[in-house]
Amino acid sequence: MRNAIFLLCLFTLFLSACNQAPSGADAKTDLAPAAAPDDHLRPGYHFTPPSAWMNDPNGMVFHEGEWHLFYQYYPDGNTWGPMHWGHAVSTDLVSWEHLPIALFPDEDGYIFSGSAVEDWRNSSGFGKDGKPPLVAIYTIHDIEGEKAGATDYESQGIAYSTDKGRTWTKYAENPVLPNQGIKDFRDPKVIWDEAHNQWVMTLAAQDRVQFYGSKDLKTWAFLSEWGQNSRNHSGVWECPELFPLTVMESQEASWVLNVSINPGGANGGSGTFYFPGHWDGKEFTPRKQANFTPTDTMNWVDYGRDNYAGVTFSDVPDGRRVFMGWMSNWDYAMQVPTQSWRSAMTIPRDLSLHETDFGVRLHQQPVKELEKLRRNEKNIDLDRLPDGVTIVDLKPLSDNGQIELDLTIDLVDSDAEELYLTFSDESGEHFYRTGYSRKPGVDNAFFTDRRSVGNTAFKDNFAPDRLTVAPRWSNHHELRIRAFLDRTSAEVFFDEGEPVMTDIFFPEAPFTKLTIETYGTTGEGMPAGWGLVKGQIWGLGDKD
Ligand code: FRU
Repeated sequence: MRNAIFLLCLFTLFLSACNQAPSGADAKTDLAPAAAPDDHLRPGYHFTPPSAWMNDPNGMVFHEGEWHLFYQYYPDGNTWGPMHWGHAVSTDLVSWEHLPIALFPDEDGYIFSGSAVEDWRNSSGFGKDGKPPLVAIYTIHDIEGEKAGATDYESQGIAYSTDKGRTWTKYAENPVLPNQGIKDFRDPKVIWDEAHNQWVMTLAAQDRVQFYGSKDLKTWAFLSEWGQNSRNHSGVWECPELFPLTVMESQEASWVLNVSINPGGANGGSGTFYFPGHWDGKEFTPRKQANFTPTDTMNWVDYGRDNYAGVTFSDVPDGRRVFMGWMSNWDYAMQVPTQSWRSAMTIPRDLSLHETDFGVRLHQQPVKELEKLRRNEKNIDLDRLPDGVTIVDLKPLSDNGQIELDLTIDLVDSDAEELYLTFSDESGEHFYRTGYSRKPGVDNAFFTDRRSVGNTAFKDNFAPDRLTVAPRWSNHHELRIRAFLDRTSAEVFFDEGEPVMTDIFFPEAPFTKLTIETYGTTGEGMPAGWGLVKGQIWGLGDKD
């Protein structure tokens, strides 16, 4: 108890030090995270804010050799509050440099989620000395209007920068897109639509997305809306994004619409789904395609609990579509057991579209830049698992739970029905598990399980008593499981990058063991051989 009081005092001292920072453009110039009692829960290679509260990624754009990450930020507290745009840059998607806050709330309202583009033709006229401006497009959330019961309290504004995003000027004639009375009217994501020579804004409008077109980013005209009659309206639609992506196998030009929903996610709370489709410059039409099972007709970007409001970077060279999401869930984000900072972003992921047995599908892979984090490597080459159980000592690879794993498991000639990959601390009692099941009734599904990792009691909907599951979108006899663990999170990429499951958890001690085991019906529940397991496991370093 005395320890708890001491930690509380330390933390109170720490937060009051933060609160003394002046507000305004000079605030938070000391951007290094201060040492805090919950440092052991801070991820080593994921992006986290220097201190305080963070939610959605915003304004992600590649500009003059830098990846810009802005984010919903409340610098004066560790729960959601008046929204700013925090800011960081990276030259390699691995190390992030914290920069001063880019956009502050003002008398018009909070700065909600949105996007940023490089206006390389200077269509907005904000450019200077022949250099293109960066233009941010965001939601102005009039908190007073909301409190007064208005319905038009969200509108869209823009701001621009001509110094590589270091300073920003809000456009004097904001809002550029006023609200006609739709209560939830937010999260503009703008792209340059080359084929139709226009800027296109995708906007969440309560239970649908709306599309607006513009020539100069300042004047917007309604194009169409979509989604009111589509499935899944168990929550409000947020943070939508429309982007082009070529189908790899056929080289067909195609489009994807991502929508975040809260609540109503695949396994509860916040989640993001996608629709492959067509865009004709005015309207979006989803593809008609095969579904996996009659009961699972949604395509989820992530089946884990912790990947929300994710969008992709604008203006990335080489045709890449790089995605990052907020690694938390509105179900419990404000109660997670960290105090001095709250939330991380997912690792950046390359998106690709593929022709599969189940139609055109979106795959994700960790960006290859992350390979530079690899430190110690261990090869796994098992020719049938001895007695169904193999224990890998992770200590020589990593002493802090920062681990990457890439295993291929061949199901051919195997009578096993379940595969478990279990990451645990030394005692083995505290563990995070992922795996595969083809038990009758489950058939062909992946799962994750965080019920037995450390503190789960801070919110009853954090670890309800069931597995987190995802359908398998393949019938191939070889399974691939790639996992990125970072002290308090796991991102698991199955098969060729779909499904994906992202979960956070709060262990007391780092994982030091991986147990690979199989179970089957032969021998009445005794472990059964699985066939070949091959691959690598790495310890991963810190991002700096
Ligand atoms: C999504 C969201 C957005 C909104 C922002 C506010 O998590 O609710 O719709 O712009 O967060 O912080």
